[in-house]
Amino acid sequence: MRLDREHAHALDAEDPLAAWRDRFVLPREASGGRELVYLCGHSLGAQPVRAADCVEEVMRDWRSLAVEGHFTGRRPWMTYHESLAPALANLVGAEASEVVTMNSLTVNLHLMLVSFYRPSGARRAILLERGAFPSDRHALESQVRHHGGDPATDLIEIGPRAGEDLLRTEDIVERIERDGERIATVLLPGVQYLTGQVLDVEAITRAAHRAGCSVGWDLAHAVGNVPVRLHDAGADFAVWCSYKYLNGGPGAVAGAFVHARHTRPGKALPRFAGWWGHDAATRFLMGPEFHPSPGADGWQLSNPPILALAPVAASLEHFAAVGLPALRQKSVALTGYFERLVHARLAGKVQVVTPAAAEWRGAALSLRLLGLSRDRARAVFDGMRRRSILPDWREPDVIRAAPVPFYNSFDDVWRCVDALHAELHPELRA
Ligand SMILES: Cc1ncc(COP(=O)(O)O)c(C=O)c1O
Repeated sequence: MRLDREHAHALDAEDPLAAWRDRFVLPREASGGRELVYLCGHSLGAQPVRAADCVEEVMRDWRSLAVEGHFTGRRPWMTYHESLAPALANLVGAEASEVVTMNSLTVNLHLMLVSFYRPSGARRAILLERGAFPSDRHALESQVRHHGGDPATDLIEIGPRAGEDLLRTEDIVERIERDGERIATVLLPGVQYLTGQVLDVEAITRAAHRAGCSVGWDLAHAVGNVPVRLHDAGADFAVWCSYKYLNGGPGAVAGAFVHARHTRPGKALPRFAGWWGHDAATRFLMGPEFHPSPGADGWQLSNPPILALAPVAASLEHFAAVGLPALRQKSVALTGYFERLVHARLAGKVQVVTPAAAEWRGAALSLRLLGLSRDRARAVFDGMRRRSILPDWREPDVIRAAPVPFYNSFDDVWRCVDALHAELHPELRA
């Protein structure tokens, strides 16, 4: 393969999505203003230029319309969150009524567990992965305790085999089959946050349902990154945040999915309720009884923070305009190029932890620095930052970098690998 920078430039010249980079504000060095090679979209997505317009639109409507902004203006606040649902639903393979933008991820996880984790009899456990994101673990553990259970026995962990980094679908399925009668709920990530591994949502959901468990998915690293088909997979629920690949801004309003079969008329799942989850048609009759809105909207508690929804709206406009298939096509090419460069230039120095098959990974690669002490590995990462390259660091020895198809270029990827090469080969430094 060609390793020269001109080749990266040639790939950028052929990229049909290249112009989208200009619709994002990429961070710059504080001194000198040099643009950073931003590879942290898996952590906090870059700001869409349009986000400021959407925020200003809400500010303007608030100034000029005040309370009437709930009903008038380009995007009335009463239905603001509904206007986001179609684009969001497309990203997670859902019907618009199955998704809602609300709260933050961990809050939504708790709300979903209230409805879907209903331990009874011998079926009391939750299956999670050993490497689960800490907030998920805290939420699950506190739910178990809330129901009077003991996390030592009621949290069942599944991890990679000894000496391996990645989960195997067959191991997860086998565990569900083995312990199925004990498991009330399975909660797994669509994309594992540390390794970037995509999990088999369909196969695992089917296995869990065969065993009589409810199944939920944490899509924090999946939404807007890889295609997910929640409805067809039959998942019971899912939650995600909007600040990573969804570019909704720090702490952006998050999302949740509830499968349509749980919200058919006459089926009212137990839930924690608030007035915004009340059926919009009768909410303002202000009656004492709670009648949930149809669909996922029925899990809302409060009226939404419209100012915080505005950047999410801006970003979803972009997703709707480009479409996930086109983004994914570029993403596969970008990350494939990234991996090939790493193998060609950093062989023996760096292990790619993320699966090799495009189907089983998203944009991000997790790179383990081989044969270095923790401090030396960290120094390599810090050296990259000094070269204006911004991936992120996960203890003790992993660098995660996500070339995001909306705003990263093949040249960004080339510069990242070149910086890593320079840091790992100090003897070649000028
Ligand atoms: C996989 C995963 N789950 C859960 C969370 C927690 O999200 P929040 O702080 O928005 O609740 C994160 C945050 O980065 C995450 O990456």
